[in-house]
Amino acid sequence: MNIILIGFMGSGKSTVGKAIAKKMSFEFREMDALILEQTGFADMKALFLKKGESLLRESEIALSKELALLTNTVVSTGGGVVMNKIIIDTFKKHSAIVFYLHAPFELLTKHIASDSTPRPLFNTIEKAQSLFEFRLPLYKNLSDHTIDIQEKSVEEIADEIIHIYNTL
Ligand code: S3P
Repeated sequence: MNIILIGFMGSGKSTVGKAIAKKMSFEFREMDALILEQTGFADMKALFLKKGESLLRESEIALSKELALLTNTVVSTGGGVVMNKIIIDTFKKHSAIVFYLHAPFELLTKHIASDSTPRPLFNTIEKAQSLFEFRLPLYKNLSDHTIDIQEKSVEEIADEIIHIYNTL
């Protein structure tokens, strides 16, 4: 059964995903990185500028169909996968458990500030905050488990997820 991590930008999906994969000897796949590789763009800013958000969303739908077929894999999704329910449905259809990494918006902005990854949908705090509020119910409703990441180390978050996985 695969482990799918969802959550807003800055929630640590990739860092936590790598830690889980290492501890469980699972494969690790990062959707953003694979999409940039497939489309040939250096980063999301360049992709958005040339092709717009729609290319990212179409690529996410197509990629989820490929990744869902893998086994024993941790998938770190992009923060916007919940905009297309079919992506989560595809993962779940092929045996996966979906974890939502939750943190208040203020903590996410702190994480983003200390990370140099270009994020075109985090250009202004106001827009990012309304996007966060819009998506919050989607993350909660589409996941199997919500993991509060506040005041926890990467190791602790990874262990919490592994514990839930092992009790299934
Ligand atoms: C996005 C999140 C980003 C990336 C793109 C759009 C979003 O991924 O897919 O910039 O819509 O929230 P991270 O969540 O890994 O930052």
